[in-house]
Amino acid sequence: MLVINTIAELTRIVDEVKSEGKTIGLVPTMGALHDGHLSLIKRARLENEVVFVSIFVNPVQFNNQDDLVKYPRTLERDVELIGEYADYAFAPTVEEVFPTPPTEEYHFGPVEEVMEGAARPGHFNGVGVIVRRLLDWVRPDKAYFGEKDYQQIAVIRELVRQCDIKSEIVPCPIVREPNGLAMSSRNRRLTPEQFETAANIHRILVESQQLEDVPQIKAFVEVEIAKYPEFKLDYFEIADADTLQTVHSMADAAGVMGFITVYVGEVRLIDNIRYK
Ligand code: PAJ
Repeated sequence: MLVINTIAELTRIVDEVKSEGKTIGLVPTMGALHDGHLSLIKRARLENEVVFVSIFVNPVQFNNQDDLVKYPRTLERDVELIGEYADYAFAPTVEEVFPTPPTEEYHFGPVEEVMEGAARPGHFNGVGVIVRRLLDWVRPDKAYFGEKDYQQIAVIRELVRQCDIKSEIVPCPIVREPNGLAMSSRNRRLTPEQFETAANIHRILVESQQLEDVPQIKAFVEVEIAKYPEFKLDYFEIADADTLQTVHSMADAAGVMGFITVYVGEVRLIDNIRYK
């Protein structure tokens, strides 16, 4: 696997791969890679002739400076981990990607106005800025994203639609720790005790699948989360799986999902579950 640091080299290699008529898969990441990322990369390996993984902690999607500073950076280990599955790792510096501060402004409509979009102003614009540029540079046939960040996929689908980008967006299921906790680069910041306690987020969501309708589920999850002093619920929303707008009854939408964000100590964790 070759590590690329510049856009010039990246576009030269992409041009070469394209001229050979080979299919390209892209997996965008911010590094600190774990088995969740690896599942996307392995899928890309199966479905494409050439696989690019981008590793870039994108400053413009962090609305919290402390979160950006504390975001784990483990490039050497990342490169080792994916060497077997990816052909190219694109790991540029911030100056390479943003020689001047980006000024693009996207408007993704209702899918970005709720949940993470409401809780983290500017976050999805920052995601749009980097994903647009990566898709422009790599021009992949397929780009892979995890359903852990379910709303991010909805935003990226809207980006691709608005900008008439030809890449297919491929959603991939959430990979979990043996205790049920959704894998996340931020899990590294949990103490061993917090890591065990955090498993209750998924347990509570799974138990809530047994309940009949939206008000019961909402009350159950809120009460159960509140039983853990280490948890601080940011939000729990039950929403239409397509539009991401709040539903008040299971009958309101064809697909219904629960979306949760919980602070465990200082660490903000997100997860989701499907009800229907
Ligand atoms: P990052 O958090 O590094 O995640 C990269 C990709 O891996 C995302 O598509 C994310 O949904 C997926 N992923 C993370 N944890 C996962 C898990 N447990 N199971 C399955 N997939 C998982 O998401 C980003 O980076 C950034 O916003 C990015 C898209 C790279 C733009 O900067």
